[in-house]
Amino acid sequence: MIGLIVARSKNNVIGKNGMIPWRIKGEQKQFKELTTGNAVIMGRKSYEEIGHPLPDRKNIIVSRTKNFTGENLITVSSLKEALEAAGETDVYVSGGYGLFKEAMPLVDKMYITEVDTVVEDGDVFFPEFNKDEFDFEIGETGGEDIKFTRTTYTRKCHE
Ligand SMILES: NC(=O)c1ccc[n+]([C@@H]2O[C@H](COP(=O)([O-])OP(=O)(O)OC[C@H]3O[C@@H](n4cnc5c(N)ncnc54)[C@H](OP(=O)(O)O)[C@@H]3O)[C@@H](O)[C@H]2O)c1
Repeated sequence: MIGLIVARSKNNVIGKNGMIPWRIKGEQKQFKELTTGNAVIMGRKSYEEIGHPLPDRKNIIVSRTKNFTGENLITVSSLKEALEAAGETDVYVSGGYGLFKEAMPLVDKMYITEVDTVVEDGDVFFPEFNKDEFDFEIGETGGEDIKFTRTTYTRKCHE
């Protein structure tokens, strides 16, 4: 299963100044639940923002300039190689923009957390996609000052 997991603002922002532009208690819980025991694919900048491999899952970093290695940590130079490295494990593409865009035609499911805020001056956005290709389900809501809603998009059929 190839999944994609993201949190985006109402105006489609996912990043600002190299960071995720909100901190909401509980917002990242789903990320941990889905990816633990599986594999995550992320771009070099997203990985550097986190600064360490995420525990108890395979961390596959895509970069052409750096080579991160360690326990449960490998670096590859393309999305294709990243998917191959995941093997049979469920894998979650976790950003940023370029990997989301490239993976979009391949994903079986997208877990999109809709964050109820508008981010001014965002500099990384979630790519546009064709909603008609997916079934859509609304899930849990959460957050205090800033609310969020989980949504899941499941691809209707594969070509
Ligand atoms: N809201 C969310 O859910 C979420 C999720 C993830 C990230 N973010 C935010 O998004 C921002 C980072 O995203 P970003 O799009 O700027 O950067 P990114 O995708 O994390 O990293 C970009 C780098 O990854 C490597 N890369 C990406 N695609 C590649 C490919 N197809 N082949 C080879 N290398 C590839 C390249 O590294 P080299 O330059 O080393 O070759 C590229 O410069 C941050 O602000 C982060 O906080 C938000």
